[in-house]
Amino acid sequence: MQLIFLGPPGAGKGTQAKVVCERFKIPHVSTGDILRESVKAGLPAGLQAKAYMDKGELVPDEIVIKIAVERIQRPDAKKGFILDGFPRTKVQAVSLDEALKKIGAKIDYAIYFETSPEMSISRLTGRRVCRKCGANFHLVTIKPKKEGVCDFCGGALIQRDDDKVETVKNRLKVYTSQTADLIDYYRQQGILKTLNGDLGIEEAFGIISDWLKSR
Ligand code: AP5
Repeated sequence: MQLIFLGPPGAGKGTQAKVVCERFKIPHVSTGDILRESVKAGLPAGLQAKAYMDKGELVPDEIVIKIAVERIQRPDAKKGFILDGFPRTKVQAVSLDEALKKIGAKIDYAIYFETSPEMSISRLTGRRVCRKCGANFHLVTIKPKKEGVCDFCGGALIQRDDDKVETVKNRLKVYTSQTADLIDYYRQQGILKTLNGDLGIEEAFGIISDWLKSR
């Protein structure tokens, strides 16, 4: 099963990808997570990407395509994967099609998480992530048991630099100008599924599971 999770920042793609990947035992391929890990590790790709990420701009296609294509060719991705946050431009989408063709795979569904800019802003400005294990929380909707402390590993919860309100607004602009056209790209391929991104995590998971079972 090969899926793409598409949608504006804060639509809930990463949160839902974790749940679906755990249930269906497939890898979660988040270009955002891979880039953040590369920044942390001081890798060349991370150092190049950091300035773009801090401003909420897209990292250049050639860097991201290399990362994503390399990841989906690893042995654990043979049984399927969820691409979360990739592709984000037409150039990335076409490169993905070409890479999949080479390995004899195809995308089953591109799931579009539809939500409003207001919801994106409230989800992202309230998001807190664990510095140690990367788990996601929210100040209002997904509170940790103890304020500021990760439920899973006890690490400190912090706000991502690009979750400050001005950067979030820029990420939304960038999404509208560079990524939103991919909704039509996948609609034309007949593989687009639209999900109400405002639904709760369990409800959204139920809908996605039904789609996957009837595929
Ligand atoms: P990336 O990390 O991919 O950020 P994003 O796409 O902007 O997505 P987010 O992680 O912000 O949102 P999400 O939809 O996953 O929401 P989440 O589930 O976390 O990218 C970061 C940067 O990397 C980019 O700006 C760019 O610079 C670069 N980059 C990455 N990929 C790239 C590419 N392909 N090309 C070029 N550059 C690239 O949820 C958000 C919050 O809401 C959380 O607090 C969560 O707990 C809460 N929440 C989630 N779902 C629900 C729900 N159903 N109900 C209530 N609360 C919920």
